[in-house]
Amino acid sequence: MADLAGKTAVVTGASRGIGEASARALDELGAQVVLSGRTVSDLERVASDLSNSPVVIPADLSETGSGTKLAELILEQVEGVDILVNNAGIPMRRMPEKLTEEEIDLVFAINVRSLLTLSIALASSMKARGGGSIINVSSVAGIRGPGARVAYAGTKGAVDAMTRALASDWGPDGIRVNSIAPGLIATAIWEESRNTVPGLIEDMEGQIALKRWGFGDDIADVVAFFASDSSRYVTGETLVVDGGLARVSASAQPQVLPELIE
Ligand SMILES: NC(=O)c1ccc[n+]([C@@H]2O[C@H](COP(=O)([O-])OP(=O)(O)OC[C@H]3O[C@@H](n4cnc5c(N)ncnc54)[C@H](OP(=O)(O)O)[C@@H]3O)[C@@H](O)[C@H]2O)c1
Repeated sequence: MADLAGKTAVVTGASRGIGEASARALDELGAQVVLSGRTVSDLERVASDLSNSPVVIPADLSETGSGTKLAELILEQVEGVDILVNNAGIPMRRMPEKLTEEEIDLVFAINVRSLLTLSIALASSMKARGGGSIINVSSVAGIRGPGARVAYAGTKGAVDAMTRALASDWGPDGIRVNSIAPGLIATAIWEESRNTVPGLIEDMEGQIALKRWGFGDDIADVVAFFASDSSRYVTGETLVVDGGLARVSASAQPQVLPELIE
């Protein structure tokens, strides 16, 4: 994998899970990493293991104006930004009839609005440095129409759509914009259910072609690919990283009547 020495990367939601793994992977490749999230103690725990002068900047991305404000704080502390990993996000598991307007606003504020405003506010720095790479973390939920997750799925579909649109807007400036759509990744989002719902782990594994849940590292390695020059001719793409969940049959058995198989 290419060397990211001399590059500066911003990772939102870097305090745990996929963001933590991504921050560690980018640091390992030599990038200076700016870690953001709400929980300072967790951000500092991750930063304390990093080697390339990490910077911790807390932010609550549910607040109006927070994406723009975070970008200002970042640019006060580092010379410029080359890589942005828009990873911070919250789930919203509710039947449509039970969703409140406040819940819809909250999940869109964090997963969509702040992702866009932070990207816009950091793009000028990337342009000034001759280009950059924006990596948005979406979800297979935005692709496959999951039950009881309409608001969350809507945010992630929006992220993939904005990924393509921004790739068009900023391609001439050398900024590549791609998204990663993870499947089932064993992070805090799933921790309680994994610990309390009998059979959940095995049931979900059964739906995945590779027969295992993913881990933060499985996504972080793809973040590193999009951050690096190895993906220099890729923009506007969504890469599904789900072990074969959304678009692959989880069963090696034929999906048609046996007598139709030659
Ligand atoms: N795990 C999965 O199965 C899965 C699947 C598909 C997509 N994803 C996506 O992957 C991304 C990371 O999820 P994860 O699984 O790593 O979840 P996680 O462990 O819960 O991490 C979420 C991160 O987002 C931050 N965050 C949450 N609310 C925030 C807010 N209001 N302002 C700023 N930061 C906030 C959290 O930090 P603080 O709490 O410290 O603020 C944390 O660092 C999300 O966008 C999620 O939708 C996850």
